[in-house]
Amino acid sequence: KLPVIENEAMLNYAPGSPERAKIEHALKEMIANGPVEIPVVINGEKIFTKKIATQVNPSDHKKIVCKYHEADAALTKKAIEGAEEAKARWESLPFNDRVAVFLKAADLLAVKYRYKVMAATMLGQGKNIWQAEIDAAAELCDFLRFNCKYAEEIYQQQPPKNSPGTWNRTEFRALEGFVLAVSPFNFTAIGGNLPAAPALMGNVVIWKPSPGAVYSNYLVYEILVEAGLPAGVIQFVPGPAEEIVGAAISNPSFASLHFTGSTHVFRKLWKDIGNNIDIYKSYPRVVGETGGKNYHMLHPSLDKDGVRHAALQTIRAAFEYQGQKCSACSRVYVPKSQFADFRRELLAEHAKIKQGSVEKFENFSGPVISQFAFDKIKGYIQHAATAEKGTEIIAGGKCDDSVGYFIEPTIILTTKKDAKTLVEEIFGPVVTIYVYEDAEFAQTCKLVSDTTPYGLTGALFARDRDSIVAGSNLLRNTSGNFYINDKCTGAVVGQQPFGGGRASGTNDKAGSSSLLIRFVSTRSIKESF
Ligand code: SER
Repeated sequence: KLPVIENEAMLNYAPGSPERAKIEHALKEMIANGPVEIPVVINGEKIFTKKIATQVNPSDHKKIVCKYHEADAALTKKAIEGAEEAKARWESLPFNDRVAVFLKAADLLAVKYRYKVMAATMLGQGKNIWQAEIDAAAELCDFLRFNCKYAEEIYQQQPPKNSPGTWNRTEFRALEGFVLAVSPFNFTAIGGNLPAAPALMGNVVIWKPSPGAVYSNYLVYEILVEAGLPAGVIQFVPGPAEEIVGAAISNPSFASLHFTGSTHVFRKLWKDIGNNIDIYKSYPRVVGETGGKNYHMLHPSLDKDGVRHAALQTIRAAFEYQGQKCSACSRVYVPKSQFADFRRELLAEHAKIKQGSVEKFENFSGPVISQFAFDKIKGYIQHAATAEKGTEIIAGGKCDDSVGYFIEPTIILTTKKDAKTLVEEIFGPVVTIYVYEDAEFAQTCKLVSDTTPYGLTGALFARDRDSIVAGSNLLRNTSGNFYINDKCTGAVVGQQPFGGGRASGTNDKAGSSSLLIRFVSTRSIKESF
């Protein structure tokens, strides 16, 4: 039996606390020792290719966080071949021995490397201390540990019946071939989970980390290795996406894509995989979590306290980590009767937000990840300010990339049902509000559902049960994670399995057995006596 799995307890970093001193020390040390060089790792061998790319500190983009050596198509091929060699031994290890690697990795992370991985997440990905704790410490530990519990549930599933003289069994084996994990910048935890989940199920994995998260992801990789992950089981292959991913999905042993990133890229990869279908040994398992246009919907039944709560939750869901969570709230629908209260509460909370480098802990808001992201988000804000009738910026709006990629948390108000910022994914600190007539709740739910192609997260704020039931039904297709009277971000592993449908992903639910089952090949065995 596995040890009892609990959520990793979160630390609060109060001034004067030992954990605050430790993170301050880790940040100082990382800055003093930087920039580090990060290799490609294939079969346990560190390869310094000399083709170097850099990850910069988005709070101050002149500062380089790490220099990483890039892989290419030839090294990707070598990584695949090495992984296939490592596979036989890895998949035949008893489940408990594979589990032990990931449980140990979680403990190493929680106790020995917490502050280092958090520091890399803060300096490299622009997360403030609490967002780094939620992600790189708590959520990553939770993924590593809860996956073990969910895997155990899968392996224990057996047919309930045997006819006389027979014995029926179900066998869950690793996929034939390798898994390609393509991970995003925005969660170190997702970076870790994308390769770790399939590896736990006995698979071998080619892991291409995001250029925006190479440093933290490499530290996670080293923790897995220290925890006993055998060489070759996960190959760490940073570098240009097209070349590495292209080499992987045109290999006949490609068995699965485990992806988190943009809808556009996922669709392209799915098409490329489709075009290659004849070369593969099996139909690849394509698992992806992609874009979103997540919402908060307020119901006319809310009282004043309910409206204040919804405003506060909106600030958190829209602006924590600069709106760069896949789950971030980027549109709000408010009944006319509540709008004055909502606006006042929202602006009062907005006025309290401090923005700046994440090295200063008082800053709630940090930078966005890159120049590309900065330009794209700024373009949306400018469009709302100048090019869309009926649309105005009521808070924030300033963009300054002179030192870091800073975009003020921005609140937009529109009367247009299809205003660009109300319906398109922005992935930045921008939220758009639409005010509806109180009597038009049902029509507005239809609007929420029909004006974007996505279905990741959403929240309904309502007071009485009838309204909650009505809203939940009307909004049923809008989200894989639906919240009632709570913000639409912050799914906790083991509590709210995460992942959406429609254009937001394959709904395979990170932090659940439904995800892990995608990475096994199932054989039913009947034996007659
Ligand atoms: N799991 C995160 C959240 O719910 C998003 O990836 O906020």
